[in-house]
Amino acid sequence: MDDSSIPSETNCSTHAAGDGDAVPRSFRPATDPDTVCFGDNLDLLALIPDGSVPLIYIDPPFNTGRTQSRTRLRTVRDPEGDRTGFQGRPYRTTRLSTQAYGDTFDDYLAFLEPRLREAYRVLAADGTLYLHLDYREVHYAKVLLDGIFGRASFLNEIIWAYDFGGRARNRWPAKHDNILVYVKSPHRYVFNTDEIDRVPYMAPGLVGPEKAARGKLPTDTWWQTIVSTNGRERTGYPTQKPLLILRRIIQASSNRGDLVLDFFAGSGTAGVAARELGRRFLLVDNNPDALQVMRQRFATYEDVRFVRYDRGTELSELDGEGDRS
Ligand SMILES: C[S@@+](CC[C@H](N)C(=O)[O-])C[C@H]1O[C@@H](n2cnc3c(N)ncnc32)[C@H](O)[C@@H]1O
Repeated sequence: MDDSSIPSETNCSTHAAGDGDAVPRSFRPATDPDTVCFGDNLDLLALIPDGSVPLIYIDPPFNTGRTQSRTRLRTVRDPEGDRTGFQGRPYRTTRLSTQAYGDTFDDYLAFLEPRLREAYRVLAADGTLYLHLDYREVHYAKVLLDGIFGRASFLNEIIWAYDFGGRARNRWPAKHDNILVYVKSPHRYVFNTDEIDRVPYMAPGLVGPEKAARGKLPTDTWWQTIVSTNGRERTGYPTQKPLLILRRIIQASSNRGDLVLDFFAGSGTAGVAARELGRRFLLVDNNPDALQVMRQRFATYEDVRFVRYDRGTELSELDGEGDRS
């Protein structure tokens, strides 16, 4: 993508008054360093200039009616332990940490709509939005997005299918998420077919060795296991999404150097995939637990800025201590 779709900034080139540091009043998507922002995303979206973001991926709470929480445990052998494990040996379990966020909304669409309108506003002329939901709200969100983007801008509904956890016995067990894909313009958008990772043929014997070795393009149904409880990419953050899903999205719908915005960032998966693929990132979350996880996840990355924002104030540098205030 060329830079002509990124407007010059007229209202966000000054610096925060009073503290003397180099945090601007607003975001400058074309030039900002990779940024993690603590605050309500609706307030923060207002600081992003129109038409300045090539790719937005968001994975909001799904309105499950539960608190999403994950507790990390360590189990060690201990003759005094309270649990019996492998070969009847006693073990002691220590709770390391619990991370959680609320996922109950009286009026979910009233929460989502202003954020989706802001997403449309900040999206570049050839930009793409991925909205990750599940069966609970996806149909309402589709109608909402058709109204905001226009039906012609709907590109896909991706089904991410997995197979993990318990199985309901009184209906078909729900084992997929839905990702709606909208482009700002149906006539001009980024889609890098040749950069998308390929997947094995279901019947490789039928296509010949050359094709079988190359694999095929994924369709709109992606089979991918969830982040496993002891896998390398696991952060312990509830509802963390697999890197492969984010890599595929970013490869297909952005170019090197582009900004990827995720304003429901959680553990920062979109940031990790963006960095790996030579893109830049702007991540937002209002949960101190998420900020803490992202600090750890990005600890080895150079040039990541952590900022906070409270409505009516200015962006300010966030120090480690401030994460929990
Ligand atoms: C489903 S999780 C995102 C998980 C993420 N995709 C990952 O891979 O870790 C949704 C996140 O949205 C955040 N969130 C909810 N409401 C928010 C708001 N108004 N502003 C910013 N973040 C919000 C929650 O704290 C939570 O971390």
